[in-house]
Amino acid sequence: MSRELFSLAAGGALLEEELLQGFAAPCEDAHRKILAGFRENRTGFGWYGLPDMSLEELRALAAQFSSVNTVVQIGIGGSALGSLMLQKALAFHPVPESIPDFLVLDNVDPRDLYRLEHTLDPVSSLLVVISKSGGTAETMANFLWAFAFFEKKLGRQEALRRTVVLTDPESGILRNFVTETGCASLSIPSSVGGRFSVLSPVGLFGAALLGISVEELLDGARAMRSRIESTFRVEENPAWLWGILSHLHEKQGRNISVLMPYADGLEDFAEWFAQLWGESLGKEGKGTTPVRALGAIDQHSQVQLYAEGPDDKLYTLLAVRTHEKDYLIPEPPSASLGALEYLEGHSFGEMLYAEAQATASALVQKGRPLFWLEIPKLDAFHLGGLVFFFEYVTALTGILMGINPFDQPGVELGKIHTYSLMGRKGYEEHAEAVEKQREIMRRLLVKG
Ligand code: PA5
Repeated sequence: MSRELFSLAAGGALLEEELLQGFAAPCEDAHRKILAGFRENRTGFGWYGLPDMSLEELRALAAQFSSVNTVVQIGIGGSALGSLMLQKALAFHPVPESIPDFLVLDNVDPRDLYRLEHTLDPVSSLLVVISKSGGTAETMANFLWAFAFFEKKLGRQEALRRTVVLTDPESGILRNFVTETGCASLSIPSSVGGRFSVLSPVGLFGAALLGISVEELLDGARAMRSRIESTFRVEENPAWLWGILSHLHEKQGRNISVLMPYADGLEDFAEWFAQLWGESLGKEGKGTTPVRALGAIDQHSQVQLYAEGPDDKLYTLLAVRTHEKDYLIPEPPSASLGALEYLEGHSFGEMLYAEAQATASALVQKGRPLFWLEIPKLDAFHLGGLVFFFEYVTALTGILMGINPFDQPGVELGKIHTYSLMGRKGYEEHAEAVEKQREIMRRLLVKG
């Protein structure tokens, strides 16, 4: 019997049958493009096959380091956000003592290094460096610092023994480093882009070190892929519905997409989605701005704006039906608190769910367009399903919009400017362009 993956409901405008049916053919066409891209192993399309990935090598390497106390993982963007998301969702405290502390070093803020320098003991730690391109300046700077720190404390050989590199199978200077030093490594498939890589070793190696079931993550993703592939009928295909409506709302000027999970464990899921969506679809003057929110907290911060501010947003509320660990609200301890009796006997999970429903109905009542997405519980299987769902929806929407969801020319430009400002050889000519822009900015310079 197949397991329930999730449910999706849509409320608000643009739900007319005829309008949606008009997208059946474009969606089928987009789906075929995704399949063809994957089968031809084209750049960017590899995520579609990740649910079938063999886990043997990854699991064996993770097992070799099962006794470390701390993992320091270095990477940025797509080489960090997926790991943070999995950790927050599935490795919540108190975790068993056998699970290592997991620190992600993505920014290049010296404060983080100061903290590491004073708390990290390399003797019981593992250094994992992740870069698909093998050259991103922030990741390389952090790696140089962390490796030097390990080397100083442990000596070169031991530092290398405690270093695992995840990078492209063939190209890039990190791959050269692996060849030169013989340190352990895993390959990131060439056809998988950074923000689509969480179900590759990029996300799964850290997950395995954290004791998360990587098999269940892939099972969930595979089940979701089968569910999406199971029908070409718009009204029965949740991913097509999400993609079409998102596209239609953007055309109507709703160019902000709010993802609001109702679970602390999914807070970083919204962060992960924001990168996936923003970097994939923000191009050629098109795109919708992803906004992360968290229920119920943002009911007391953002929902006023959502309900009565400009009608420029599409909302996705993501609810979790049941919680493994839940608590009942006790009875009020004294008569003065009698007014709180209505809370008594409800569980906190129930309350969170009710709050999500309350916000959804309030937004729909105000005529705001909304998706209600619900998973039965937050575990590896259902999270794997959600990941695949949003990856597919992002690719599909990009194709419907007529853009390439798998490149990131804007990010590359920033990387090039960083190289030139930091004096990297071969990037001298870009320094001039950077200086020109800085001059433009200096035209209005106010000092305090
Ligand atoms: O999605 C992307 O391609 C980017 O966000 C990258 O993941 C990010 O720039 C880091 O790149 P790399 O893994 O090559 O160091």
